Amino acid sequence: MKFLQHSVLPFLIVTLSLNGATLAHSYGDFLHCLSLRISNSSTISKVIYTQNNPSYSSVLNASIHNARFSTPTTPKPYAIITPRKTSHVQSTIYCSKNHGFQLRIRSGGHDVEGVSYVSQVPFVILDLVNFREVKVDTENEVAWVQSGATTGELYYGIASKTQTLGFPAGICHTIGIGGHLSGGGFGVLGRKYGLAVDHVIDAKLVDANGRVLRRKSMGEDLFWAIRGGGGNTFGVVLAWKVKLVPVPPVVTVFTVNKNLEQNATKIFHRWQYIAHKLPKDLFTTVWVMKVNSSQVGKKTVQASFRGMLLGGVDELIPLIQNEFPELGLAKENCTQMSWVQSILYFGGLPIQPVDILLNRHALPVSSVKEKTDFVREPMSETGIEGFMNMFLEEEADFAITMIEAFGGRMDEIRENELPYPHRAGILFESTYIVQWTNEADAGTYINWIRRLYSYMASYASKSPREAYYNYKDLDLGTNNIIGYTSYEQASVWGLKYFKNNFKRLVQIKTKVDPMNFFRNEQSIPPL
Ligand code: FDA
Repeated sequence: MKFLQHSVLPFLIVTLSLNGATLAHSYGDFLHCLSLRISNSSTISKVIYTQNNPSYSSVLNASIHNARFSTPTTPKPYAIITPRKTSHVQSTIYCSKNHGFQLRIRSGGHDVEGVSYVSQVPFVILDLVNFREVKVDTENEVAWVQSGATTGELYYGIASKTQTLGFPAGICHTIGIGGHLSGGGFGVLGRKYGLAVDHVIDAKLVDANGRVLRRKSMGEDLFWAIRGGGGNTFGVVLAWKVKLVPVPPVVTVFTVNKNLEQNATKIFHRWQYIAHKLPKDLFTTVWVMKVNSSQVGKKTVQASFRGMLLGGVDELIPLIQNEFPELGLAKENCTQMSWVQSILYFGGLPIQPVDILLNRHALPVSSVKEKTDFVREPMSETGIEGFMNMFLEEEADFAITMIEAFGGRMDEIRENELPYPHRAGILFESTYIVQWTNEADAGTYINWIRRLYSYMASYASKSPREAYYNYKDLDLGTNNIIGYTSYEQASVWGLKYFKNNFKRLVQIKTKVDPMNFFRNEQSIPPL
């Protein structure tokens, strides 16, 4: 089926299939429906952005974090809805369902495959940019955070009230809470406290029937599913109640860079045996990338060993000297700071002033493709050498692999506790990232990262080769974006992300959204 896009006429007739059944409806009817339900004309102008609106492009682009999906040929939404009240969300669901538009929910817009703001069928975006409230209650050590807030806004909100509480979520401060918590959320506190979703204790969700549900009213099955079972699948999560975790007033971060000439391969080889067994208070990660060599005009590959101890430098140095002397950690590699400053440190930003955490656009946007692996057995030295050497290739000029140690708390949580199953026995997770600036070269770079992924097949987890849902990779397989997707078809990617939890996710989806209203290329399909 072919659709007209871009030059949207207000009364264009479109057709869209909802789980097999084809609906024929008009864009004009959709707008009419939404305007009637919102009713107040000054609110309408702040909530509905059609393609004729002068602010349409800036609203669309404000939360696009992958330039790969903002080219002139990228399909654009018929309208962007930026709700200010829960009733606006309910109305958007009602009108898109009744007038045949697919809904894409966007919080921070960091989806690696752009599925929160791109679709191949007529669609509208529900953009939660106005749902950004963060309410921190230090007495009860909890916070309510709306989905459109970023992790940075949450971190800042906590730190502006207390230096001794934190939240274990992702490293980058511009990612949206809505998408991040829908897929898990691993960061520097992960070895100590597990994932962000391990600390969600309530949520506010609008389901496919427009009902507003809390933990009690949605029931434990659905509450289990939304904590990592994927975004745009079970409903629109408006807000999350999270339990905060203790952090010391001072943490110590460090970076030690080793390149190929400085034994990077051997040290990384050793790191694999140690990092997951270190005390929970110590997180380490290795970032592999191409850098200039000390020989003029030559390149080498650097393994940058970074980490954070929930404690002081005087505790860190003897700990590393004892457990991982090969690293040669010295005091000058270390800096003491507050937990909230460490977020900026790992994000490659100056650690002062911390209010940069409120800047949703603090990081540059380029074209990106990512893939992930979970590794359960240490790689051989030869294997690591081959992996590192791939970074000497031309296409890897702006490539990086971030390798994060697991173990600690992650080893203690059962695989089926929540939808995210990659727990006990994982040594580390690798996120492979390739970036480019000229869209015409996209194929070359994507081809490189696919070759890197093929190379890593013999070292990664097997049957299934596990992958992290938060770094979506459509190479792993997709749903039919129109019509029915069978369990078998979706299992191809679903088992990689969710292992045996996939089946339960499908059962819950079948119960709560049998018509598959909330859908995207890798949302859980109903039976
Ligand atoms: P976005 O708004 O694009 O949404 C992502 C998905 O969730 C889409 O399918 C969307 O429809 C759905 N969705 C969004 N809001 C929803 C809502 N309120 N209700 C229902 N569905 C909703 N991960 C990690 O674990 N640790 C890390 O350190 C990082 N770091 C990182 C850095 C950078 C630069 C990027 C690009 C990504 C990461 N990630 C990460 C991955 C990140 O967690 C993942 O991309 C999240 O889905 C991003 O959430 P956003 O809300 O920003 O995305």
